[in-house]
Amino acid sequence: MKLIKTIAEMQQFSKSASHHRQKIGVVPTMGYLHEGHMSLIDQAHKLADIVIVTIFVNPTQFGPNEDLAKYPRDFDRDWSLCEKRGVDAVFAPEPEEMYCSDRSTWVSEEKMSQGLCGQSRPTHFRGVTTVVAKLFNATLPDIAIFGQKDAQQAMVIKRMVRDLNLPVEVVIAPIVREADGLAMSSRNKYLSADDRTRALVISASLREAEAGIKTDGRKALCGLAESIAVKITAGGGRVDYIEVLDADNLESVSESTRCLLIAIAAYFGVTRLIDNALINLD
Ligand code: PAJ
Repeated sequence: MKLIKTIAEMQQFSKSASHHRQKIGVVPTMGYLHEGHMSLIDQAHKLADIVIVTIFVNPTQFGPNEDLAKYPRDFDRDWSLCEKRGVDAVFAPEPEEMYCSDRSTWVSEEKMSQGLCGQSRPTHFRGVTTVVAKLFNATLPDIAIFGQKDAQQAMVIKRMVRDLNLPVEVVIAPIVREADGLAMSSRNKYLSADDRTRALVISASLREAEAGIKTDGRKALCGLAESIAVKITAGGGRVDYIEVLDADNLESVSESTRCLLIAIAAYFGVTRLIDNALINLD
């Protein structure tokens, strides 16, 4: 497995693979890898000949009062997990390699990034789209794999790729959960044992909502977000948002909605967790 630290070397590696007609799959991450990330790597192996994992804690997607400095990092562990999973190259640039000090260009999506996490983290998605575009330009992939865990991020990236005609196929892989239902996340490490147990109310509420909709159809949507909020608050969480939206465009649910997205962000202790469910109405 190759460790690549510079954009020039990364581009060289990918150009040479493409020259040999190898399909390149990239899995962008911020490291501190877990089985959720591993599932994206497995998916990349199915769809591509060469798998690149990027590990970069992207400063521009963190707000001024967020956890950039505290974001968990363990490069040696990430390296050995990638090696075991048959990754071909890890691209792990330093921030100075990715960002010039006098940079003045951003990539920003201006519709789907406005609601949900965009409300409480107003500069977050501009940082994500900018870094993902830059990571694509460094790794030159045919395919990029993202997780449904970050549902809004996945949609914003798909929209950016479409709107900018980026020659990358974006594939979204399902959420990987712990055995008890908690969606895997690098930030779960911050949870105290008690908060971790309390946080199970998030995935439990999503399962109950899904069961309700399977039984009662659209009738179950009436008051649904409010009832999930009551459960999460009673369970010791602080709700950031709970929204039931049309999964195709993140707009309000309408007669034409075929697939729902129930999206939740809530704090347990100081840790902000997000989770979601996609539910087919047909
Ligand atoms: P990070 O949080 O490290 O996540 C990297 C990828 O792993 C994302 O596509 C995310 O959706 C996916 N992922 C995380 N937890 C998952 C889970 N439990 N199941 C399935 N997939 C999961 O998301 C980012 O990094 C950054 O914003 C990034 C896209 C790398 C840009 O900096």
